[in-house]
Amino acid sequence: MKNALITGINGQDGSYLAELLLSKGYTVYGILRRKSVVDYGNVAHIKDKIKFIYADMTDVVSLINAMRISQADEVYNLAAQSFVATSWEQPIATTEIDAVGVTNMLEAIRLINPKCRFYQASTSEMFGKVQAIPQDENTPFYPRSPYGVSKLYGYWITKNYRESFGLYTCNGILFNHEGERRGKEFVTRKITDTVARIKLGCQDCLELGNLNAKRDWGHSKDYVRAMYLMLQQDEPDDYVVATGETRTVRDFAKIAFEKVGMNVEFSGEGVDEIGTDTATGKVVVKVNPDFFRPAEVELLIGNPKKAEEKLGWKREISFDQMVERMVSTDLALVSREIKLAGSL
Ligand code: GDD
Repeated sequence: MKNALITGINGQDGSYLAELLLSKGYTVYGILRRKSVVDYGNVAHIKDKIKFIYADMTDVVSLINAMRISQADEVYNLAAQSFVATSWEQPIATTEIDAVGVTNMLEAIRLINPKCRFYQASTSEMFGKVQAIPQDENTPFYPRSPYGVSKLYGYWITKNYRESFGLYTCNGILFNHEGERRGKEFVTRKITDTVARIKLGCQDCLELGNLNAKRDWGHSKDYVRAMYLMLQQDEPDDYVVATGETRTVRDFAKIAFEKVGMNVEFSGEGVDEIGTDTATGKVVVKVNPDFFRPAEVELLIGNPKKAEEKLGWKREISFDQMVERMVSTDLALVSREIKLAGSL
């Protein structure tokens, strides 16, 4: 059976991918960064099935060691400083991890096992200020953040090692993908967590930044299947993974409130825009300029035709089902939190 090495295994995508590969009989190795307290994150429930290796994307020696220990046939590079907003505060760290880190991993593969297949988590953020609608594998890139710029380097070095050294390397250009395991700094999970808190009476208002930003949102569980499929082909290639649908942040919030039985109407403009609960007249959404970005990606919508036709990939979780899953999970989590606080 095959060995897989996943960087970023304790994140949302790492956890769904680890579950998928374990179900296919892989021996799964996962890279963790050393912290004072061990952080299994989203793989805590399957930690006994995974072989963990301490390493860091910025330390090539540790990655060479990880390749030696794991004897990996496939490497999935999901480790990143993945929050776009933080990339303006930590541009150098973002570059070292998201750009140079990719070369470190590729060099480790080249040295230890050049037959090892490599998946790079590329992103729709590389399209940034979009040059075509919808975006596909041929759309020119125009990144709008230090994160997007770093990821663009990762994309090109992955392609370059394929062309220069004949390595089997693939870029998955994944559009936004969410789910119950998403971190709360990202807008979708921030919304579903806060909607649950408002519904259960422990928060009054959801504060957001740019309500007009449009994203193509799918579910992470569907998207990790595409990663796996990319590494099972005869030839390596790059693929867009998306739903082909786009919605505003405002739409996402409105639908999330609907899932808990609240109808929210929006009025006003710019920083004065508010969302009002029509049943009570209370303001439940406000704009907070602190969440605006120095440069924004206004519209993303991907065309997944190539992945569907060549990989046979198809998404199974609709947008509506995804919001439903996220809201119901957060209602359960927040209820538990309230009960626990009450029993203290
Ligand atoms: N996080 C956040 N918080 N975003 C907000 C908020 C808020 O309060 N209010 C509005 N937004 C807007 C952001 O300005 C952005 O336009 C959009 O919501 C989505 O933001 P995020 O959920 O933080 O995701 P992202 O699109 O910047 O990046 C995610 O998707 C990329 C793929 O396109 C991340 O997962 C990246 O790592 C990934 O590459």
